[in-house]
Amino acid sequence: MKKIVPDRLPTHVAIIMDGNGRWAKQQKLKRVEGHRVGIDSVRNITEACHEFGIPYLTLYAFSKENWSRPREEVKTLMYLLGLYLENELPFMMEKGVRLNIIGEKKDFSKTLQAQFDHVMKETAANSNVVLTIALSYSGRREIIRAVKLISEDLKCGRIKRIDDRAFKKYLYAPDIPDPDLLIRTSGEMRVSNFLLWQIAYTEMYVTDILWPDFRREAFLDALREFAKRERRFGNIKEF
Ligand code: IPE
Ligand code: IPE
Ligand code: MG
Repeated sequence: MKKIVPDRLPTHVAIIMDGNGRWAKQQKLKRVEGHRVGIDSVRNITEACHEFGIPYLTLYAFSKENWSRPREEVKTLMYLLGLYLENELPFMMEKGVRLNIIGEKKDFSKTLQAQFDHVMKETAANSNVVLTIALSYSGRREIIRAVKLISEDLKCGRIKRIDDRAFKKYLYAPDIPDPDLLIRTSGEMRVSNFLLWQIAYTEMYVTDILWPDFRREAFLDALREFAKRERRFGNIKEF
């Protein structure tokens, strides 16, 4: 039966897509098969955002720390990333998805960097869903990078004061609102260096479902839970 979409939806959903390896292990498959099926979840959840009218989706796909995984796994992840970028453009164009990337693009091969630029350019005019993928991403590095850029601008007088709003302008994606909902699949109760600045008042939702199994219905459960939350932002009544 089709589940009913709640009235009160988040504007921006961020997801820590975790559990591909455990999923593969459960299926007695190699870890890489978990990553492969995880790509189908990415498409499914992007499509759901389009269907429900959620304009911002941010996915944690590869952390700075993930470079320390065994070489073979990193190699396969890079291969799958290339495949994803190659295959998903028609889907993005059909659904009006704009691709955005946060993280250190320069850590990737020239070929992948060219693919990032190509898909971002092709989808730049799309406006239904802004899909931000975090790649070689570290929340701490993002903050340090912002501090460095700010000190340069302070030194040469381009800015005068630093406050929350001024600081945000120096993050990777200054125009994207902070996430309303952060979902982590696979049950771990940690943020693993994701969007440290942006999640100050984000509602958190952790599910035991592994990422390759996380599809529309599981997403709707998270959205229904979000609809029930009372957000106070330090005040005493709901904002
Ligand atoms: C998430 O799944 C994908 C990436 C971090 C690239 P994992 O690969 O972390 O899967 P588990 O946590 O080992 O199950
Ligand atoms: C977080 O998952 C990073 C991504 C989902 C890309 P990890 O599997 O790398 O995180 P830890 O090691 O469990 O904290
Ligand atoms: Mg993991």
